[in-house]
Amino acid sequence: MAKVTIDDITIEVPDGTSILEAARIIGGDIAPPAMCYYSKLKTSGGYCRTCIVKVEQGSAKDPRPMPKPVASCRTTVMDGMVVRNITSPENLEARAGVVEFLLLNHPLDCPICDQAGECDLQDLAYKHGEEETRYQFPRREFEPEDIGPYIKLNMNRCILCYRCVKVADQITDGRCHGVVNRGEVSQISTYIEQAIDNDFSGNMIDVCPVGALTDKTFRFKSRVWYTKPVDAHRDCPKCSGKVRLWYQGEEVLRVTGRKDQWGEIENNEDGSTAWICNDCRFDKKETKDWVIEGPTHVNRRSVISANHYEGLAAIKADTLRMLGSQPHGVKVDLGEGALDPNNE
Ligand code: SF4
Ligand code: FES
Repeated sequence: MAKVTIDDITIEVPDGTSILEAARIIGGDIAPPAMCYYSKLKTSGGYCRTCIVKVEQGSAKDPRPMPKPVASCRTTVMDGMVVRNITSPENLEARAGVVEFLLLNHPLDCPICDQAGECDLQDLAYKHGEEETRYQFPRREFEPEDIGPYIKLNMNRCILCYRCVKVADQITDGRCHGVVNRGEVSQISTYIEQAIDNDFSGNMIDVCPVGALTDKTFRFKSRVWYTKPVDAHRDCPKCSGKVRLWYQGEEVLRVTGRKDQWGEIENNEDGSTAWICNDCRFDKKETKDWVIEGPTHVNRRSVISANHYEGLAAIKADTLRMLGSQPHGVKVDLGEGALDPNNE
């Protein structure tokens, strides 16, 4: 076990835990944002740098600070490590710089983008971004491309997080797309515009943190905040069959996997990830196809929670709740005044 202090809250976590996972155990805003890391995908993380944190003390044995911000998704905790995320103005400034880089080429087309309202980059820019760009050069531009029968690629919006590539690599039968070229000219491509057509390809839409990969059966049909999410399941021979139905009135406009508060697909009872197959996602759009479990509890601070169910807790309340339900093997020790509601 290793003891790590993040933003004045000390927890004990198993050796090998990343700083980001340790911070997620504490919860609330102390958990750094993650645009490329996805705990359900092996080797993800290390590309975007939004999860950077300041390491004030490397470990109890070697208390020297780390000389520059580190990617918390790729850095494991050491016993006695002291980390600062939201309590370090320098760290927040560095993160704002990362956001500025991510937005260099990203179009501000949220008003027409299907991802608006549930877009990680939109939330990140709102929270950590600057009001204006300093970039003076033309942005990269690509024509939208059909990749397979169900997915539209808007490369203009892609932030090259590699999540979709890892989904294709790890949960579909054969990958036929990837990142081609490097640097300013890198892009997601299906090489010879070969269609992505396999049973689990739709999961690429769910992992894409922006609106670069969208569901062609849902495009331009509604805005996410006008839809009502409902959890449902069916007995599916190919996948877990655990989905989220997005209703407008009586109509199911789209079917997605169920995402947790980190925007990742939830786990099944046996610990495996509840990825869903294309039959469930694209072909079962009638209420009669599903056993309805009830309204989704949106546990995320984003436009997606507008008009949806319970109020969203402030960071301190989030943190308190998380602390009340720690997974086994994790001990928490609050720093003095860390949860004082006046100590924002
Ligand atoms: S298309 Fe989406 S998931 Fe794929 S690399 Fe780009 S941003 Fe990431
Ligand atoms: S989330 Fe850590 S580098 Fe992208």
